[in-house]
Amino acid sequence: MTTREPAGSPTAGGAWEAAHRASLEDPEGFWLDAARAVRWIRRPGTALDPAADEAEGAALPRWFRGATLSTAYNCLDRHVVAGRGDDPALVHHSAYTGERRTLTYAELLDQSARLAGALRELGVGKGDRVVVYMPMVPEAVVAMLACARIGAVHSVVFGGFAAAELAARIDDARPVVVLTASCGLEPTRVVEYMPLLEAALERAEHAPAHCVVLQRPQATATLVPGRDLEWRDVLRPGAAPPAECVEVAATDPLYVLYTSGTTGRPKGVVRDHGGHAVALSWSVPNLFGLEPGDVVLTASDVGWVVGHSYIVYGPLLAGCTTVLYEGKPVGTPDAGALWRAAAEHRASVVFTAPTAVRAIRAQDPDLALAAEHDLSDLRALYLAGERLDPDTWAWAGERLGVPVVDNWWQTETGWPIACSPRGLQDLPLKPGSPSVPSPGYDLRVLDAEGREVPAGEEGALCLCLPLPPGTLAGVWGGDERLRASSLAAHPGYYTTGDGGYVDEDGYVHVLGRTDDVINVAGHRLSAGQLEAAVIGHPDVAECAVVGAADPLVGQEPRALVVLAQGVTTSPEDVAAQVVQRVRDEVGAVARLRRVDVVAALPKTRSGKVLRKTLREMADGLEPVVPGTIEDRSVLDGLRDVLRS
Ligand code: COA
Ligand code: AMP
Repeated sequence: MTTREPAGSPTAGGAWEAAHRASLEDPEGFWLDAARAVRWIRRPGTALDPAADEAEGAALPRWFRGATLSTAYNCLDRHVVAGRGDDPALVHHSAYTGERRTLTYAELLDQSARLAGALRELGVGKGDRVVVYMPMVPEAVVAMLACARIGAVHSVVFGGFAAAELAARIDDARPVVVLTASCGLEPTRVVEYMPLLEAALERAEHAPAHCVVLQRPQATATLVPGRDLEWRDVLRPGAAPPAECVEVAATDPLYVLYTSGTTGRPKGVVRDHGGHAVALSWSVPNLFGLEPGDVVLTASDVGWVVGHSYIVYGPLLAGCTTVLYEGKPVGTPDAGALWRAAAEHRASVVFTAPTAVRAIRAQDPDLALAAEHDLSDLRALYLAGERLDPDTWAWAGERLGVPVVDNWWQTETGWPIACSPRGLQDLPLKPGSPSVPSPGYDLRVLDAEGREVPAGEEGALCLCLPLPPGTLAGVWGGDERLRASSLAAHPGYYTTGDGGYVDEDGYVHVLGRTDDVINVAGHRLSAGQLEAAVIGHPDVAECAVVGAADPLVGQEPRALVVLAQGVTTSPEDVAAQVVQRVRDEVGAVARLRRVDVVAALPKTRSGKVLRKTLREMADGLEPVVPGTIEDRSVLDGLRDVLRS
């Protein structure tokens, strides 16, 4: 796409256009300038070094080689040194327990330094991995910052994932320690973490030496002597000397965050220290329009990328106050819960997923519960994680009276690929569009042959390399997977996996995934991941999982299974057992509720299941049937099942 927009376009000649153009024409100058917002130990002399990348065989360009810093120092110590130690850094707001707990910058520093010291005593050193499997409690943030403090690499696993998913992440990351809690809270139940962790450790080949467990009052975990320690014991004053910030290279890994790729195996996205600190420090004021002291309420989870970037690191790097919201948008206790939290803590920005707004709308169609609260500090509602339908966008904007800012990104990019840059310029918003590409992102829409398509025409949304700072530095365990997938389809580009178009005004429209990733309530799952759990049922011979359109959560997975020969269990019982199996293996969050036993699956002549065709049929569309289909009658036979 061009950064010189046609005259008359809302973006022509403004601050966004200037910044976007500067970032692409002179990435070196643009990002070295942005890097001044970060406190470095050794300042970057260069932003990119293609010769060094080539010599190293890096799949993706590395930012700020030669520079050193501490991310933890930038999040905490620097604000304390600047005299802001008593300012609130984090406010825990639990919609389940009614608890409110504020940690100042000085307190968050103290806790994370003490946990960092304890981790060190447990043998965690620079570059070692620590798995964090925790609910939305302040200690989860303390855990992440403690790792950053000593240069350990954290890998946060979403609490909604069950044993098999946790085990796969443990085996890939090979942590020295797992940090966990006795339980998480859900609207109708207390989710005990220890049994899930035990089951995962039993399966894992690379179990850690120690687990540190936060006991919460709602459930007490039984600890294994010698292996497990209690959080309060390791943090007790005098237990271990608090750790100072360790100097790390800008290119060292800060965290690994697993996401669903197109296979059943989770993909560990690696984020570095330097590029990440620069990109987030830049995005908070420029994309979100936030200043130090502003309050941000990001109602996501620390287990997702939105939580990493805009619950934890972004707000703290920028000196804001972050609200850690433990609850749901509805049912804890009502559809006013988010507005109550926003008003109570005087949030300037609320950030959540479109599903949350659709859930609120279903229960409070006039948004009457928001009107009960003083939301005069709220400047904008940011929504990401899945497509924001124009109807929900208009409904929320009209009733809240603030801009509703759709922004599009993914675990791999770490910060928005496209977003109205409200700190730079007040661009008009368009329904159905996350607005314009963020500076640093050179977005192109390509056809199957890799040719750019004209404005308004659909294609694959691809990013011209180099990607900006803060995006993935690689995949944990080696970049072969990256080379074979996102970098392979179109040489010179990172393929996002999303399809869409750019309109005449330069606004991006994201229409959905072009691969087998399923987006359930803004949670990313893969067909392969769910199929691996389904096929593990002894009575299932073959299966296909597809994401079918759902008005609340965007997509809901549906499974079609073919029974093994000689199975005597009834189809209803197998279906119920498969549903339970997916809950046990992947987690309830997968929301697999519909399983149909069928006679056969439609395949190509080479034996590939036609998932895309099944998905189109489930969505009520007339599917495009590939000429390579083996037996058309199998597909036709599924029409009624899929449309019911
Ligand atoms: N730990 C354990 N279980 C979890 C969990 C967690 N952290 N998060 C979700 N689950 C469970 C839920 O309890 C539920 O179990 P159930 O089937 O026994 O009821 C299941 O996973 C599905 O969860 P969820 O999708 O949250 O469904 P819900 O019916 O409880 O709530 C919404 C519906 C719309 C309120 C909810 O999907 C939502 O808040 N969506 C927004 C998602 C979001 O913020 N995404 C972040 C991306 S930016
Ligand atoms: P995740 O890596 O879990 O953040 O999921 C990323 C995927 O969610 C993207 O590749 C998109 O398919 C989808 N997504 C995220 N934000 C948006 C958005 N604003 N509009 C449309 N799809 C989105």
